[in-house]
Amino acid sequence: MASWRLSENSMNLIDGNKVAAEIKQEIAEEVKQIIDNGGKQPHLAAILVGHDGGSETYVAYKIKDCEAVGFKSSLIRYEDDVTEEELLAKVEELNNDDDLDGFIVQLPLPKHISEQKVIEAIDPKKDVDGFHPINVGRMVIGLPSFVSATPYGIVELLKRYNIETSGKNCVVLGRSNIVGRPMSVLMSQKAINATVTVAHSRTANLKEVCANADILIVAMGVPEFVTADMVKEGAVVIDVGTTRVKSDKTKSGWKLKGDVLYDEVAPKCSYITPVPGGVGPMTRTSLLLNTLLSAKKEIYK
Ligand code: GUN
Repeated sequence: MASWRLSENSMNLIDGNKVAAEIKQEIAEEVKQIIDNGGKQPHLAAILVGHDGGSETYVAYKIKDCEAVGFKSSLIRYEDDVTEEELLAKVEELNNDDDLDGFIVQLPLPKHISEQKVIEAIDPKKDVDGFHPINVGRMVIGLPSFVSATPYGIVELLKRYNIETSGKNCVVLGRSNIVGRPMSVLMSQKAINATVTVAHSRTANLKEVCANADILIVAMGVPEFVTADMVKEGAVVIDVGTTRVKSDKTKSGWKLKGDVLYDEVAPKCSYITPVPGGVGPMTRTSLLLNTLLSAKKEIYK
């Protein structure tokens, strides 16, 4: 029975690294064209507060990605003891910097600084993270907006793999402002047409809810939370989890774990994203796409 199942089921790996490389190539070509036509080099800035290991890594990747596609990038650093006032003054300065197409303030921020206040101080026209309530609101009602990088990247993956979404049952596991919530809205929009359930830690009968999903998008932040009994045969599974766990098998001493118990779940899926190499590279690429959209004035004309 098991071997019959395995041969019946053709699981396809969704290769985020490959798609991200293709998109970066496309962006690089567009940047070259813009510059060849006498336009301005797109410019992204990042503000990094403190020395959190994860934030350092993410911001370093963002700067490296800018170089790879021909964007100008700027890194503005503060120590942990920067005041909220100083940070807000820098945000205001960047809002008014005409050379800058977009900027991000890397989160989390130290506890004495209100993240929400900082996010709301960013000019929505430069909010390439898509975190400002104006961008979130515009996205919800289907207006052009900067969309948060991870959901944007997942939509792009589904499109580029020609995965059928119309009329499908989509379960989004997690309701964060950055991933679960915007993901659920995008999946219900007319271009995608899925029927969406947002499940979370208080959802009753979670296993049954997940097992009913044609498309299961997992963004809980709990390593290996989704097991085979929670997944329907032939489902599309998108794993957003990237928890760092200690490992004696890697040089760095840690490895990334997804929210899906991959080895057990993958054989049941029609498509699945691995961790690493699935959603992560697409999240990075989406920030570049948003910056390019901003440089081309395609969101706010
Ligand atoms: N921290 C974790 N993810 C993100 C992100 O996408 N943007 C910012 N600004 N901070 C983050």
